[in-house]
Amino acid sequence: MSRVLVHGGEVVSTTGTTPTDVLVEDERIVALLAPGTADLFTVDERIDAAGCYVLPGGVDVHTHMEMPFGGTQASDTFETGTRAAAFGGTTTIVDFAVQRTGEDVEESLAAWHAKAEGNCAVDYGFHVILGGVDEASLKAMDTLVAHEGISSFKLFMAYPGVFKSDDGQILRAMQRATDNGATIMMHAENGTAIDVLVQQALAAGNTDPVWHGLTRPAALEGEATNRAIALAEVAGGTPLYIVHVSASQALERIAAARGEGRNVFAETCPQYLYLTLEDHLGAPGFEGAKYACSTPLRSKHEPHARDLWRGLRTDDLAVVSTDHCPFCFNDQKTLGRGDFSKIPNGLGLVEHRVDLVHQGVVDGNLSLQRWVETCATTPARMFGMYPKKGVVAPGSDADLVVYDPRATTTVSATTHHMNLDHSAFEGAVLQGQVRTVLSRGRTVVDRGQYLGAKGHGRYVRRGLSQYLR
Ligand code: URP
Ligand code: ZN
Ligand code: ZN
Ligand code: ZN
Repeated sequence: MSRVLVHGGEVVSTTGTTPTDVLVEDERIVALLAPGTADLFTVDERIDAAGCYVLPGGVDVHTHMEMPFGGTQASDTFETGTRAAAFGGTTTIVDFAVQRTGEDVEESLAAWHAKAEGNCAVDYGFHVILGGVDEASLKAMDTLVAHEGISSFKLFMAYPGVFKSDDGQILRAMQRATDNGATIMMHAENGTAIDVLVQQALAAGNTDPVWHGLTRPAALEGEATNRAIALAEVAGGTPLYIVHVSASQALERIAAARGEGRNVFAETCPQYLYLTLEDHLGAPGFEGAKYACSTPLRSKHEPHARDLWRGLRTDDLAVVSTDHCPFCFNDQKTLGRGDFSKIPNGLGLVEHRVDLVHQGVVDGNLSLQRWVETCATTPARMFGMYPKKGVVAPGSDADLVVYDPRATTTVSATTHHMNLDHSAFEGAVLQGQVRTVLSRGRTVVDRGQYLGAKGHGRYVRRGLSQYLR
């Protein structure tokens, strides 16, 4: 048996901040101790957390490692992406296994297990993207919930011809989820209308990256969000989780549904809290391609970012995930030179989520407690991993982050660990720094040094959402 003591720090939880020493035996937390009392224990290693916060390891429930998309493949593998996650204080990811129309769901899942197994630095689970809702995939949903530790399925209202389900398919999948208890995750954008706007823009010769955002108006995110909420109601109250919320119009519908007591939940991502259509997607030349993601970055002349921060405070937005889906600028984003609709969609952020949300605490947008809640505790509960993940408590996995709030982090592609040739936050100086990271009791990162190993990360079998009302 190996005993580690993380001492002298302040444990941050959803309810407060308390000076506490954390005793770890092998892979688990075994005791929370009043400061000083821990010196009574013999331990193999002491980790000094004086002046630091001690957090539950971050849980990022929206990543796409090595996902085939947009004519190429996301540039982080499970190996590089989970290592980068560890550097950023994230010790669990939930990635998306993809079933395309006509493919067998269980075979698709097996293919994703094969990519991840033996390669991950931190623990990982899977959601399943249903690209084709039919009798066979509906049946597979039941099997995956009952036997495979998969309790959430993503559907798309966007990307016609690729992932999009029509309203009838969505309703059927939701009815199935109402029966088997799974959560439906929704990419809520009206893809049919967007495709018309895209064709019109291209026909008019508007090919620059900024048109990626201009052809995906906030109103069409609001409309699709509203429709998804209505379909979930008709399906009998299916737990519905709206992914990557970027628009005030979508948040408004979510808040209204939650006010009525519905099982409607949502996440946003750091890019929507900080980056804008004009300054980033609209950067000169082809630079903006770095910032093409869907839902898109929104206008700084509208109150989206302010509203999203408010949503995080009020819990109408329960989670911050990254939607990590990196594509290199030089050989991938360039597929869309001369045609914005061919830019592979996605940003690489898995390494910076914890720091970027902490910056929101520093800026007065969020409390310390909400930081931990939105980045670790709620995502773990929402996707059936609590209290194994998301909390510093006896019996929980010893996934811990020693976080120094006085140090700073400078974000740059020259120093980050993601397999990505640029950074959406290049040059940003963030207040706070991940100092030490434990994954199931093993120190995987310490003061910028990687001490983990590929294959340490294990598959997490998940239960149903623990966050229903
Ligand atoms: O631009 C994005 N979001 N890429 C990843 C796929 C998705 O829709 O989440
Ligand atoms: Zn001590
Ligand atoms: Zn999506
Ligand atoms: Zn995504």
